[in-house]
Amino acid sequence: MKFLLIISFVISCLFAEDFITMKEYAKMLYENPRGIGCKNCHGERGEGKILAYYTNKGIKTPYLIPSIQGLNFEDFKKSLMQIKSVKSIMPNYSLTDNEIIALYNYINQDKEQKNEK
Ligand code: HEC
Repeated sequence: MKFLLIISFVISCLFAEDFITMKEYAKMLYENPRGIGCKNCHGERGEGKILAYYTNKGIKTPYLIPSIQGLNFEDFKKSLMQIKSVKSIMPNYSLTDNEIIALYNYINQDKEQKNEK
């Protein structure tokens, strides 16, 4: 009996490790999609950030990456589906609908939680 308990404990641990939640999956996608991570440009949770500074006519100018939090889902999806202009430094990703939904929820989950408070 004791042996069976130990075995079932070991098995449940093994499965527990394989199982990732939707939140973990979305985090993984956000940080490491196929290509360069969204995080590198849009910040930890899509809040946007200054990626670098460049000099424009002698003035130090920040290169701002926009926040992608709080967009409506249609706009979010549209900008991920469309081919980026040559001027854009954002890569074109070929994300599936489910990946786009997961990313959207990941980026906006904190906001929703804050709104609830
Ligand atoms: C190399 C930097 C870079 C990476 C990596 C990147 N982006 Fe962007 N993203 C930008 C820039 C710059 C813009 C501003 C518009 C443009 O230049 O295309 C933008 C715009 C967007 C927009 C539109 C924002 C708006 O206000 O309409 C969305 C949505 C977006 N990015 C989502 C993502 C997601 C999701 C990922 C990861 C799968 C990602 N981006 C990865 C640089 C990046």
